[in-house]
Amino acid sequence: MHIRTKKWARPELAACPFYEPEGEERKGRWREAFGRPELPLHLEMGCGKGVSTAAMAAANPDINYVVVDISPDVLGDTRRNLVRACGGNPGNVWILFADICLIDRYFDREDGPERIYISFCNPWNEHPKHEKRRLTHPRQLMQYRKALRPGGEIWFKTDDDRLYEDSLCYFRLCGFEKTYETRNLAQSGFEPNYISEHEKKYMEMGVPIKFGIFRMTEQEPAFDPTRFRLTPGIRMNLLREEGPVDTGETIRIK
Ligand SMILES: C[S@@+](CC[C@H](N)C(=O)[O-])C[C@H]1O[C@@H](n2cnc3c(N)ncnc32)[C@H](O)[C@@H]1O
Repeated sequence: MHIRTKKWARPELAACPFYEPEGEERKGRWREAFGRPELPLHLEMGCGKGVSTAAMAAANPDINYVVVDISPDVLGDTRRNLVRACGGNPGNVWILFADICLIDRYFDREDGPERIYISFCNPWNEHPKHEKRRLTHPRQLMQYRKALRPGGEIWFKTDDDRLYEDSLCYFRLCGFEKTYETRNLAQSGFEPNYISEHEKKYMEMGVPIKFGIFRMTEQEPAFDPTRFRLTPGIRMNLLREEGPVDTGETIRIK
């Protein structure tokens, strides 16, 4: 995705009281960063311009949010959208500039978010070697596991069929159980749904949005997730089977 450089974004972020460019120091102490630390904590990975973030934060003052992106240019828009929707500092949001691939530098079990949102992340379908860059790859899911509180959830949305199917496999392998799914979010009646910039774009193109909620169980995967690649055979087994994952038979490390 090409991101246009915005001269105003960095200065505005630097002056923003709810922008965090050095989040590693807050690891394990994110709840204290909010005026009401007792509220539930939700994270958004790859928030982009924060179109849905702003609507969600304004509609849910009783939830604290940390929203993450790697691009200061889009985070500049996130800040503006939040200020517009909330009439100033929302009070329940921190914008974090960080690389999600290194997310365990920023959060741990002491933070214990109840929920993580991942919406319209890059599918990385072009080359098998790129698979591990997906934000739902086991390499990532294992990092989220270290932070999420027991029973915590990941809410995942995408336009991309292949990314969705592959992610179903990743979630199963990493000890997440599917508690909700729709292959057409707009027609499902699911509420509340805060429509993101990319979601709107794909809906206008007539692409059905795939959406699932995945709850973390206590079952840890018995393999090294950093090196995992989904072969066609493993994919077929995982999508066919409904029972517990037999990691010994279904996983091959490349
Ligand atoms: C396709 S956009 C989706 C934005 C938004 N979630 C939406 O649905 O409109 C993907 C966003 O994820 C961010 N992103 C991708 N990889 C990332 C990473 N490793 N760390 C942080 N942000 C990342 C990009 O900068 C971009 O803003």
